[in-house]
Amino acid sequence: MLNSIKLEHNINEIPSHYADRVGRHISQLISDKDKKKHGQFLTPIDISSFISTFSIIDKDSIKILDPGCGVGILSCSLIEYLSTNNKYLKSVELILFEIDKRIIDHLGIVISYLKEWTNKQKIKLEYKIINSDYVLNYAPILESHQNLFENFEKFDIIISNPPYFKLTKTEPHSNAMKSIINGQPNMYAMFLALSAKLLKKDGELIFIIPRSFASGQYFRLFREFFFKNVTLSNVHLFNSRKEAFSRDDVLQENIIIRAIKRNNQTEKKVKISFSNGSKDLSNFKSFTLNEDELIDLKTHQKILHIPTNETEIKIKELIESFKNKFIDLGINISTGPVIPFRHKKVIESNPRLKSDYAPLIWMSNTEKMELNWPINNKNKAQYILINEDSKSLLLPIKNYILLRRFSSKDDSSRLIACPLLKNNFNFDYVGVENHLNYIYGIDNELNMKILFGLLVVLNSKLYDIYFRTFNGNTQVSSTEFRGIKMPDIDKLNKIGTEALLLKKVTQDKIDLLIDNILDLKSNKIIL
Ligand SMILES: C[S@@+](CC[C@H](N)C(=O)[O-])C[C@H]1O[C@@H](n2cnc3c(N)ncnc32)[C@H](O)[C@@H]1O
Repeated sequence: MLNSIKLEHNINEIPSHYADRVGRHISQLISDKDKKKHGQFLTPIDISSFISTFSIIDKDSIKILDPGCGVGILSCSLIEYLSTNNKYLKSVELILFEIDKRIIDHLGIVISYLKEWTNKQKIKLEYKIINSDYVLNYAPILESHQNLFENFEKFDIIISNPPYFKLTKTEPHSNAMKSIINGQPNMYAMFLALSAKLLKKDGELIFIIPRSFASGQYFRLFREFFFKNVTLSNVHLFNSRKEAFSRDDVLQENIIIRAIKRNNQTEKKVKISFSNGSKDLSNFKSFTLNEDELIDLKTHQKILHIPTNETEIKIKELIESFKNKFIDLGINISTGPVIPFRHKKVIESNPRLKSDYAPLIWMSNTEKMELNWPINNKNKAQYILINEDSKSLLLPIKNYILLRRFSSKDDSSRLIACPLLKNNFNFDYVGVENHLNYIYGIDNELNMKILFGLLVVLNSKLYDIYFRTFNGNTQVSSTEFRGIKMPDIDKLNKIGTEALLLKKVTQDKIDLLIDNILDLKSNKIIL
């Protein structure tokens, strides 16, 4: 136990408030390092109460699972909510998983108080606390022979604020869950995947999680598995990164999802709601969409889009009505191959014989519509040696578009693209650092009109808003971009032609060009 000071519950205190007090007490005793290691950020009471309102199960006997339960605040809030909102409820069987043995005693005290409280409400509560690893315990259910018979215990409601942290591929969890892992594994996706499998028919899972699983290659296999097993019914977004878990200074973009296990999936509506953080939860806004407006299950990537207003829905409709991806336009996008710490030997700040070197372009050389090279930055050497070791890293000098792979949280745009034009460089080769993507013509070099047309499109507010509906992190991956639709060649030509006539291409001018040439008004899009 973390501390011998035992917090007593107050007379008539409701269990979730007691759990919150215990949780806050414990939170102060756990070091920040430990919190990160176990993903131990406990849910504040207002968020916990709100999460429980997503449950709509009205059976008289309910089996609940709370994996990664901490001191059990979610179970307390949920059962309190059900006790007033499910008039049929008579009995609850509750299973709680928590790995950290230091908090197990606290959990035991909270849940035994919950049992006392439910008794008074004339609801019978049976519970089991399992001090063990949820993932390692359940991972075998993903194996094919287990899958066939599905003779494992299932639940009506699985509620969780799972731990969020990345694992290495060699950890036992990653190995046990390899069928849903594709690259960098994250603990929360493992919790979600197992829970999707552990639901009874018509059962619901209610999770608060980061939104990073919505897109990206690392979560592709997970998305495939998850959406095969459950159907989304609700998504709640917290628009402010800071607010939901402000107590612990967590800077995640969090969402709450409710998903249900359905065999005949007739119900294909998803309710989207959003609030800034916890303070405006009582009057949040919402609207309903068809599932296929959020996710196209027929695609390989199965990217989940989460628009937050009418304009974002219209933007998604417009962009997805375009016919061409990069490949259809004879264009490709790749990641810059120069990784500075690996290629230290060939990188140079101020070479004596410049003719042996090529320019090295970093993120800091790029602005919207503008490439600045060389720049004076002692940490970003501006040259790369041309020799046998570096040849495979260098690109022949041509016309390229450079697109930043990362944006900082303060950047007003996620998409920042600039031209790299061969006529501005008196070199045969160029090096592109790994924090940049480069876009190029596959067989034919990008001509100036198409190049500037694409640049304007990529830097536009229209595409930035579209990109944010599915990308919850700050990364812009080349794989993701290969799936994004682009305006047709004629339109790109027109946009490029007009952009080339401009003296300086500012954000306002970019958005005006897009507005006019893509006819946003008639698509009811007002940026
Ligand atoms: C984000 S906290 C949330 C706790 C609680 N559900 C709440 O909402 O306050 C995640 C919890 O999961 C626990 N945990 C981490 N890895 C686990 C695992 N593999 N199995 C079970 N619990 C785990 C952590 O110790 C932590 O208490």
